[in-house]
Amino acid sequence: MDHSILKTLTHVEGRAMTDVPANHVSLRMDNVQLVIAVKRGQRPSIVHWGRALAHSAPEEFEVLSTRQWAFGGPTEDVAPSLSNELGAGLGGPSGLLAHRDGGDWASFLRVEQVEMVTAQHVRIHCRDKNVGLGVTYDVALGPDHAALSITISVKNEGDAALFIAWAPVMAMPLDERLSRVWGVTGRWAHEFEVQEIGAHRGTYLRENKAGRTSHDNFPGLIALAPFTHETAGPCAGFHLGWSGNNRVRIDRHTDGRSFVQMGELFFPGEMKLDAGEVYRSPTLYAVWSDTGLNTLSQSFHRVLRQDILDGRSRAKPRLVHYNTWEAVYFDHGEDKSMALADRAAAVGAERFVLDDGWFGGRRSDRAGLGDWTVSSAVYPNGLHPLVDHVRSLGMEFGIWFEPEMVNPDSDLYRQHPDWVLNARGVEQVPFREQYTLDLTRPEVSAYLFDAIDAIVKDYRVDYIKWDMNRDSTHPGGMDQRPVIHRQTHAVYSLMDRLRRAHPELEIESCASGGARADFGILRYTDRVWTSDNNDALDRQRIQRGASYFFPPDVLGSHVGPKRCHITGRMFDMEFRAATAMLGHMGMELDLSEETDADLDVLRRAIALYKAHRALIHSGDLYRLEASDYLNMVGVVAKDQSAALFSCAKVEGHSTTLPGRIRFAGLAPDKHYLTRLIWPTHPPSVTAPSIVEAADLCGDGTVFRGEALVHFGIQLPLMHPNSCLLYHLESVEG
Ligand code: DGJ
Repeated sequence: MDHSILKTLTHVEGRAMTDVPANHVSLRMDNVQLVIAVKRGQRPSIVHWGRALAHSAPEEFEVLSTRQWAFGGPTEDVAPSLSNELGAGLGGPSGLLAHRDGGDWASFLRVEQVEMVTAQHVRIHCRDKNVGLGVTYDVALGPDHAALSITISVKNEGDAALFIAWAPVMAMPLDERLSRVWGVTGRWAHEFEVQEIGAHRGTYLRENKAGRTSHDNFPGLIALAPFTHETAGPCAGFHLGWSGNNRVRIDRHTDGRSFVQMGELFFPGEMKLDAGEVYRSPTLYAVWSDTGLNTLSQSFHRVLRQDILDGRSRAKPRLVHYNTWEAVYFDHGEDKSMALADRAAAVGAERFVLDDGWFGGRRSDRAGLGDWTVSSAVYPNGLHPLVDHVRSLGMEFGIWFEPEMVNPDSDLYRQHPDWVLNARGVEQVPFREQYTLDLTRPEVSAYLFDAIDAIVKDYRVDYIKWDMNRDSTHPGGMDQRPVIHRQTHAVYSLMDRLRRAHPELEIESCASGGARADFGILRYTDRVWTSDNNDALDRQRIQRGASYFFPPDVLGSHVGPKRCHITGRMFDMEFRAATAMLGHMGMELDLSEETDADLDVLRRAIALYKAHRALIHSGDLYRLEASDYLNMVGVVAKDQSAALFSCAKVEGHSTTLPGRIRFAGLAPDKHYLTRLIWPTHPPSVTAPSIVEAADLCGDGTVFRGEALVHFGIQLPLMHPNSCLLYHLESVEG
């Protein structure tokens, strides 16, 4: 080994973090480290992203990763760069495609200046003088979590217009051990389906051009080693915080390298920069874990809770919702809504959300969108009597809007048929009888702001359910250029303006369920509507899939009717309520159709949620490894003083008895009082069982954390579609 490396090592160790480094930048947080080579005049590249190696130097990593010439390839190894732009000459798909009328395409970026914005945030300015391009990478790790937040800005420094075809945030190199990929797909009422893609050479590609985050192409993926699971092994997770079109790709090159690229998908000609203009990308969140998928998810949850969510939703408990949709659909009326409110308050609801159907000519989904005034046909006295009634019952008032949409059968469309996105000469794709408004027109955004603001002011609205129920398939704006990039920013701006005007107002992001759930929209909203599907069994899977990226606090999770309207399946209240409790709990059913006994169960579930929501919404989430017939997830308090675990039996098992549940995240040496707090009755089919032996439904028994994690506790014999909630509380030994 060249001993000069060790000399450099000493120098690096002695350097204050905010000094501008000469050759390498190293960001470190918890057990994660990112090292980027930033030598002036050279290509920038990631040297190491993985476990924090406190005693090693970047120069050491560079020697350790020396590659060599191999037959059939370039005679000198070509190093990657942060964008693998075409001029850098690396094989495989490039991470920056731009040109000026067919010229200036071979961009090759070299580091010009490096700024330490903070000790944990570096800004790397690169330039290609030949093609007139300036690129800035902003890379931050933490401050209080181990997630990277990365953006790229591309500046046209030439005189003529520059067209960007593809500018993903960065080409993130993947550790070669991570040969498996989990993509996230889904459909309406079946969101967050995690799909395993085995080892491959070539490309795994997902392209979303729905004009919203979409049901089917969630912009996230996870790469993991063959031996990685929830509580052990290396893995990397990526999520693009963006609510418009996107492309997600993982390229496994023949030379053995792999890169993840995520960025906006532009329609042809969409991203045109005139001289001096800058394109700013959405943020890529990238997470590394050496200790399995739970740690990976916890990093995503932390960055969301700490850096993205607005203080308003953090500062107060997540109120129990009552949403009117499945109770009445479009069949509104003052008396009816008041009666719904009475029943909701009686079981413990804290917020009443009036869904679709209260405005304009909206008596079905075929008319009225765009006419945001209260319908005198269904609310002849306006909404004041209802809102006053809701408040007299101690609840907040929320209301539904679908601001970006218009029905052709509406006053708004009759007055402004030119306000919709379209492509000249092409038929609109029929989609729920509605079109997308062009929010890049200032007069459209102004109209929407005024209309929503008036309702919010008039009724002191606490909460908006902001829906979006169609794909924007032909997104041409005023000048017929594609506008999804600008449209997405216009939606963010409209939300931002409303939130500034109403500092207490909370917003839910809904798009036919979970088609606009991402960290971009959550900068301007407070929770997402996870899925229209309230089938408790499906919800067990949907919520588990969503939990890889989202914490329970932002996942709207409602108790639906006994027979699910979407799947037709029936579940008892114990199962429905337990399933909803591990999210942001609410109800969406006609309570008059439930038996008194079921209403009592629901009331008890809501009380239990209220008692434990502080833990559910702040703790670290753990998914437990279990047989397929179980779904087990839980939250553990940051100081490991308490935990709540849900164990759902989602199907039957082939053995006569189920196995043991092994908890996670508990302190091995702490003593935990272990109790079953749900269901409301002893859950075992036969008795006596572990329930009696450990008095789980009574005073409980104290076990050591170590035993609960590594030995486990026998499950009682339960029927399928039932759910246990274990509460663990640390007590003096
Ligand atoms: C789709 C949403 O996902 C539903 O919850 C409901 O709000 C309907 N739209 C209303 O049209």
